Amino acid sequence: SKPCTIPVMESGKIDYSFLPKEKFRGDDYLCQWNGFWFRQPFLEAAHQVLNHYKPLPTDTVLASYPKTGTTWLKALLYSIINRSSRDSILTNHPHMLVPTLEIQLYGPKTGSFDSFAGTANSSARILATHLPYQVISGTINSTDCRVVYITRNPKDTLVSSWHFYPKSKEVKDPWSLEDAVEKFCNGVGNCGPYYDHVLGYWKESLERPHKVFFITYEELKSDTKTHVKRLAEFLGCPFDGDGKEEDVLDEIVSSCSFEKMSNYEANKSDDGHMGWLKFPLSSFFRQGGTGDHKNYLTPEMINRVDKITAEKFHGSGFMY
Ligand code: A3P
Repeated sequence: SKPCTIPVMESGKIDYSFLPKEKFRGDDYLCQWNGFWFRQPFLEAAHQVLNHYKPLPTDTVLASYPKTGTTWLKALLYSIINRSSRDSILTNHPHMLVPTLEIQLYGPKTGSFDSFAGTANSSARILATHLPYQVISGTINSTDCRVVYITRNPKDTLVSSWHFYPKSKEVKDPWSLEDAVEKFCNGVGNCGPYYDHVLGYWKESLERPHKVFFITYEELKSDTKTHVKRLAEFLGCPFDGDGKEEDVLDEIVSSCSFEKMSNYEANKSDDGHMGWLKFPLSSFFRQGGTGDHKNYLTPEMINRVDKITAEKFHGSGFMY
């Protein structure tokens, strides 16, 4: 179904007065549109994406809910498609190789497709988006492009978000874990509810498995090499199995590991940021493991999230 149009005034500005508003953290408010919550600049950029981005059939769109492994998968996809990209990965932050549509290509102060290595080659562009499938489906389905969706254990996603948002250069307010849990459980997060985001892409991956690849952070972490191979097959550039290709594969897995990536100079920078999003580039690397929520969430919080997860995913064929 087509998302309802974003209310735009004669001036071209979005009319927020019609949209439900909810406090996120500090002075940061989210507004609800089409059943999902967005920060205002995000919604403005989304409006531009929906109006102007015309995917090419050869595009690969990496879709994700924030904090589920986007940065890692940007590096992996770029490496798979460009084969042996160690030099690029070593010297460029993944967000500077593969741009996110609504943060780096559309919206205020954004770059052009030519300014990112991942989108400069028009015959094999790689782009990312956090927009829910329910919102961007019309755009994606207008061509035959491929989508790769990554998701992650909701409790680890929550804990990763709780660490991440206070690193903002704009909204520095502290954020209590209790409030972060409350917001997550109520679906109030950028591009949330998390569950509807996951289910949108999950259902599409069942309908069109040749075009929508669905993977979890945990799968990718537990056997990166196998899944990188599967991804390469899906992307139409399989590793053919000769010795040289096997070395390239090993090199990609190794160069993109958390241990390596979090130590590259380009990824340790506190200066640069990603498009209009004012987060230091280093904030996209923290702990890089699975199950870290156990170190933060109380048993009650865990029970609460687990109960919601069971309810929301019930009957979908997907479960955490
Ligand atoms: P943690 O906060 O749990 O460490 P996103 O890229 O979607 O914003 O997700 C960020 C999460 O992915 C962070 O999780 C970050 O540490 C982790 N991450 C970044 N690079 C990674 C890599 N190469 N391997 C595994 N995890 C990575």
